[in-house]
Amino acid sequence: MQWIKVLPESELAEGERRIVKAGEHDVLLLRHNGRIYATGRKCPHMGVSLERGEIKDDALICPLHRSTFDLETGAVRTWTPWPPGVGKVFAALSDEKPLPIFATKIEAGAIWINVETSEETTI
Ligand code: FES
Repeated sequence: MQWIKVLPESELAEGERRIVKAGEHDVLLLRHNGRIYATGRKCPHMGVSLERGEIKDDALICPLHRSTFDLETGAVRTWTPWPPGVGKVFAALSDEKPLPIFATKIEAGAIWINVETSEETTI
């Protein structure tokens, strides 16, 4: 396992987000409901940054076509449902892919990411 220290724990309060570099990976780090999650920064559909994506029912929603990804597993819950009707056309532009999810831990006052727990999606 390759754990990389990315941020002092005190710099990520509840509800906050940070983009961090972990090895070669651009990672979205967020604290939600007391848990720290680390996901790929970009949407697997067309590469839009997920930094401002809404969180609902423990899923991260892409701000562009509103694909929804489970924060725990990265699994796709919905794939490009937006805009209505036309979203299906956008969906066909790219195969459905899960969001990369990285394991996290807190140790010695810092947040660590295991970069071997997920493959960065190639877009
Ligand atoms: S870019 Fe995220 S759903 Fe299309």
